[in-house]
Amino acid sequence: MEIAASLGPERLHQVMTELVSRSVAVVEHYGGTVDKFTGDGIMALFGAPITLENHAFRACLAALELQQVARGQAVEVARRDGIDLQIRVGLNSGRVITGEVGATHLGYTAVGAQVGMAQRMESVAPPGGVMLSESTARLVEDRVVLGERETVHIKGFATAVPARRLLAADLEHRRKARDDSRLVGRQSEKDALAELVDRAGRGEGTIVAVTGRPGVGKTRLVRESVTTASSRGFEAFVTYCESHTRDVPFHVISRLLRAVFGIVGLAGEQARARVRSQIPEAGAEDLLLLNDLLGICDSGCPDISPDARRRRLVNLINAVSLARPGPAIYIVEDAQWIDSVSESLLADFAAAVPGMRATLLVVYRPEYSGTLSRIPGAHLFTLAPLSDSHIAELIKGLLGEHPSVRGLSMVIADRAAGVPFAAEEIVRDLAERGELEGDPGACVCVREVRDIHVPASLQSIIGARIDRLSATAKRTLHAAAVIGAQFDTELLGSVLDSTPDSMDVAPLIETALVEQIAFTPHATYAFAHPLIQMVAYESQLKTGRSELHRRVAAVLQRTQGGFTGQEAAVVATQYAAAGDLRDAFDWHMQAATWYGARDIRAARKSWQQALRVADRLPLNEPDRLTMRIAPRARLCGTAFQVGGTPADTGFDELRALTTAAGDKKSLAVGMAGHLTTLTFNAHHQEAAGMASEFATLVESIGDPAMTVGLFYAAAQAKWEAGEMSESMRLAQRIIDIADGDPTMGSLVIGSPLANANAVKGAAGMSLGRPGWRDDLEEGVALGRSVGATTRPFVQLYKYAAGTQNGAVLPNAQDVAQAAETLEVAQRSANNTAVAYALLNRATTLIHTDSEERSAGFEFLAKAREMFVDQQLIVALRRMSDIEIARERARSGDLEGAIELASAVIVEQFDTGEMIFRGPATTVLVEALLSRGSTADINDAEHAIDRLAAVPTEPGFVLHELPVLRLRARLDRAHGDEAGYQQFLERFRAKAQEADFEGYLAQAEAME
Ligand SMILES: Nc1ncnc2c1ncn2[C@@H]1O[C@H](COP(=O)(O)OP(=O)(O)OP(=O)(O)O)[C@@H](O)[C@H]1O
Ligand SMILES: [Mg+2]
Repeated sequence: MEIAASLGPERLHQVMTELVSRSVAVVEHYGGTVDKFTGDGIMALFGAPITLENHAFRACLAALELQQVARGQAVEVARRDGIDLQIRVGLNSGRVITGEVGATHLGYTAVGAQVGMAQRMESVAPPGGVMLSESTARLVEDRVVLGERETVHIKGFATAVPARRLLAADLEHRRKARDDSRLVGRQSEKDALAELVDRAGRGEGTIVAVTGRPGVGKTRLVRESVTTASSRGFEAFVTYCESHTRDVPFHVISRLLRAVFGIVGLAGEQARARVRSQIPEAGAEDLLLLNDLLGICDSGCPDISPDARRRRLVNLINAVSLARPGPAIYIVEDAQWIDSVSESLLADFAAAVPGMRATLLVVYRPEYSGTLSRIPGAHLFTLAPLSDSHIAELIKGLLGEHPSVRGLSMVIADRAAGVPFAAEEIVRDLAERGELEGDPGACVCVREVRDIHVPASLQSIIGARIDRLSATAKRTLHAAAVIGAQFDTELLGSVLDSTPDSMDVAPLIETALVEQIAFTPHATYAFAHPLIQMVAYESQLKTGRSELHRRVAAVLQRTQGGFTGQEAAVVATQYAAAGDLRDAFDWHMQAATWYGARDIRAARKSWQQALRVADRLPLNEPDRLTMRIAPRARLCGTAFQVGGTPADTGFDELRALTTAAGDKKSLAVGMAGHLTTLTFNAHHQEAAGMASEFATLVESIGDPAMTVGLFYAAAQAKWEAGEMSESMRLAQRIIDIADGDPTMGSLVIGSPLANANAVKGAAGMSLGRPGWRDDLEEGVALGRSVGATTRPFVQLYKYAAGTQNGAVLPNAQDVAQAAETLEVAQRSANNTAVAYALLNRATTLIHTDSEERSAGFEFLAKAREMFVDQQLIVALRRMSDIEIARERARSGDLEGAIELASAVIVEQFDTGEMIFRGPATTVLVEALLSRGSTADINDAEHAIDRLAAVPTEPGFVLHELPVLRLRARLDRAHGDEAGYQQFLERFRAKAQEADFEGYLAQAEAME
């Protein structure tokens, strides 16, 4: 307390308070308890009152961190007060008497000689140092770095006592168990990897894939690269995949990001604060999305569409990685078990890696052929088994060179077949069986080689090693295998009843079956190799294993509060493995609900699993039929959102089940999705046919919100098939029931009312009915006030259909409106809506004939790419092609225009699509007439006749108008000027009557 005098009481108090509160946090972080404040220090206990494994080691970690914290604070104190602040820490281990000493207000404390010894260690520690008593040093010496043994004299004590300084606790130390062996061979791979890491360090990010059979040394090579990278200043972040979580969406990416943000083991506000501090410039909503992904959100997830969420997360992840001050290496282990959502997010991340100071390293077994095995520009390393000489060298390292092991080495090399892991396991097995004596690397074989049996398969070797464990250790291993590749003592303890003798991890570590990978907040372990976990899992009796799964599920269910989708999905998976199908079903459905707002593909994964579980229910299960229907209805209802075809919706099965159950509602939900899928895939006639049945079904349910919410599917199908009056009738029905409420029935689309107005307007437009424009405008205006997704959808009727068909001539306001809508969509709407918004933006620019025409075509290209890649409405892809064909003709590429327009027309006639045949025929005919050969003129005439012959509803102008216009042009091509004038006049009059401003303008231009 030399500093007391220099600081003065007030400042001393301030400094001490800060130091103590930081110290308390450190102690608690490592599971210790602060026992008391001693005036100029604190006393802390580890291992009491709460029994802690590794209490001595935890205390060491805490002590080192205390010194670090103090050094941090010392900087400020030195600056302000000119004083060198340093603290001393002493540790001792031994039995103490603990409990409520004396009056209760004194609280819990420990007393006894051992406590005194700790204080003495503190008194002899050098400033800024940590001193351990002999007893503590003995407990931790294999895990920490200690100074030489010293003999210290303690004031007031006659005899000197031994003590050692604690210098460092090498956390990497714990990983050494298996890696102690020298790396054999793989030098060229190691060098090549080092070169790729160097390149990344210079800013040319690299992607590396490492593959090879189990046990061949992939993980080992990766660890070597991590060491290389770390020595060059890279930070390393690892995530791994497990076979039992491959159906848990987001699992792997969220684990990787938790490592990146350094929040492993942190929860709640602490975790959120750390994330926030690392991306100070992120907006509140983005932060919320990220917290939600990391599973540390404390409020609801923002109301934006799953696709937008995904886009923003990808941007965020890339931005975070780009903004890192130093280089980083990201590792994805065992990608053969990756969940599909993480896979696709990582693929997006990979695309940005080349621009970062980063290496992305993906490791997988040969059976994996997913996206991450095909990242463009990735450097692939396929690890072959080690050569004979290398495996011999490896075995020599394990056995040594005693003459007695020579024969055995050859047998092992033969069995291992170049797989290092096999060699290691065989040697362990032999040592455990007593066939080998002595230390690793210096073994002696006590028997004749020919008398020693070496099992042929790796599995049976591992199985035999597990069999040799005590009953408790084996049970511990079995429970661990059910939990996963990594497990902590808390969960393990709960699953195994947590009585002290029900759990025994130590022998598992001694036999190198598992290794400890973390000490806080709970001791955490990992299987030393995936194959060990697999054998430990599969070698259990089924009933015992089911029971363990059941317990894991129950404990997870108990310990977790609000469930994220991943947590719910893990619980579901555990119940399913336990054979508790009902529980599994409920949890899968719960997971799906959570995912539904975040990622539709993820939600569908959960519905698919719920479906499988429901199908496995016994026939006499009371709600079996209902449970089989529920996920099917959702899957059928959402297939179009992921580019599904009519064959993917499962509609026939749903229809059969719902009919058996008399469940009209589920049938209606599913049929709405199926109808939309038919429409998206251009099965227009089938869709229109089903739309009638669907409308009748929905009406018969008699639920107004449902009618409003689902009728759009029918109205839309009828419209695209050209049944315009019927489309108008259905739209009107929605308008009547919704009675001005824009969000009534917003099951699938944000505003059925807005959509109904737009459809009614568009159908009216197709018939040239007065008032169509007002309806269309009303829909667009309503859509504007509703949501980011409804808005571009509604605008399609005006900007895509209306504009291309000559009904709408976009003005500056339309251009602005489409631009704004695109921006909103990109921020928060789903991909489909973004594609629509791009198309609307494109057509408004192209048809206003502004200087921004070329920008319009760029938007068009993007929209088209999305239509194709994501299998969205085929009719709109064709609609884009019509614009492209017209532009080709305009730029003189008549061949190209004719070819493309002809192809579009063929498809239109094949599918029965009725909206865009007029514009397609127009482009074709004009290009033919411009080329102007006799054959061309004949073809043009044919094309016009073909369009004119399409049967339509009376009053349908979408064909009539272009036919009039094209006939005029044809007559002129024939030199028939009178005919030309006549048709032009009829065209103008009709356009006037139908209020088609685009065509009217064209009529003016044709004079
Ligand atoms: N070249 C090598 N030299 C020395 N030891 C090696 C070598 N390659 C692998 N090993 C050792 O063999 C064991 C298995 O290797 P590793 O875990 O890397 O296999 P893997 O290919 O990742 O297998 P899996 O596909 O099952 O994950 C490890 O203990 C590792 O240290
Ligand atoms: Mg591996």
